[in-house]
Amino acid sequence: MSNGLEGIVVAETETSSVNADAGELIIRGFPIGELSGSVTFEQVCSLLWHGKLDAGVDLGAARVAAFEKLPSLGRALAMSDAMDAMRAATAQLEGSGHVEVTGALAVFSAAWARAARGRVAVAPDPTQSHASDYLRMIHGKSASPHAVAAMDAYLTAVVDHGMNASTFAARVVTSTESDLVSSVVAALGALKGRLHGGAPGPVLDMLDAVGSPERAATWVDAELAAGRRIMGMGHRVYRVRDPRAAVLETALERLTARPHGPETEQRLRLARTVERCAEQALTALKPDRVIRANVEFYTAVLLEALGLPRTLFTATFACSRVAGWSAHVQEQRTHGRLIRPRARYVGPTPASA
Ligand code: COA
Repeated sequence: MSNGLEGIVVAETETSSVNADAGELIIRGFPIGELSGSVTFEQVCSLLWHGKLDAGVDLGAARVAAFEKLPSLGRALAMSDAMDAMRAATAQLEGSGHVEVTGALAVFSAAWARAARGRVAVAPDPTQSHASDYLRMIHGKSASPHAVAAMDAYLTAVVDHGMNASTFAARVVTSTESDLVSSVVAALGALKGRLHGGAPGPVLDMLDAVGSPERAATWVDAELAAGRRIMGMGHRVYRVRDPRAAVLETALERLTARPHGPETEQRLRLARTVERCAEQALTALKPDRVIRANVEFYTAVLLEALGLPRTLFTATFACSRVAGWSAHVQEQRTHGRLIRPRARYVGPTPASA
């Protein structure tokens, strides 16, 4: 038995490859370092869905269509948790394909963020890029080209990642010959948990609690002594630093040279110190296990620098990962078989036995 299916190969995929020991992530033939920071989210969608790194798919019409549905979603986007709202709103998309669902998630996420601050939703502008329009719909004003570049770098960095829990959930649902929307709803539920996509908000809570670089080592030691986990550290697959941490750190460095740069630089400095202290403390605590920064660590700092509330981080992750889920759903439909593992029964034997 493999508790947690660790190390078990459950499918063949052309979407992405995660090399645990080399710390390498390949998205359909391209190392993540070549994509993130260089291409748009629409381009990486095209790569995942059609195998081509071309001008990219058009998500603008899908955003407009989703915005028109907002009045019919009832109280879905008024739910207090962004991921609960995303799940409830997505569940109401009938018969949608991958373009429609991908466009819709950005609209739902931005509309939830506005509603949470008591503001009305901002209509999408289909002429803008997905990253640009997402920021615009959240903030109610156009984002700077640097902010858009950083958002594209983020959306590209987290678009797909092998057989992670939410992708597996999507594939399990698809394997029963269910529909895309049902698969995405299941995936949203899996992504919500803090062992998967729910960690970046707590990473910022941690940085706030640490406060300044001088306090980092003491804080980390006390946290581990209390038996708590350090958020943003560790990974089920990687035994080195998550390569996405590096690309997001690069995106952050680019932002530090811009307006609000000094604030970002200060936060980045704190994050780097906490990472170093956590790495040292975890190495001492778990010498047999390599626990390094994962994608969530610098996601938190980057999305904060882009002015997103921490309550929106996991929903923003979903806005990107939905493209990966959709690609896996297509693959599962084409090559997959009903996913139906077995469990070993350890319950009581019947009295009559
Ligand atoms: N802080 C402290 N200890 C950690 C740790 C962390 N971030 N990550 C792993 N460990 C410890 C566990 O406590 C466990 O110790 P034990 O054997 O004494 O119980 C050991 O390392 C193995 O952990 P386990 O939970 O079995 O590994 P996993 O492969 O299931 O865990 C994560 C992967 C991501 C769930 C785990 O590293 C974690 O909880 N990280 C923090 C949450 C996070 O950042 N999530 C986002 C993931 S992208």
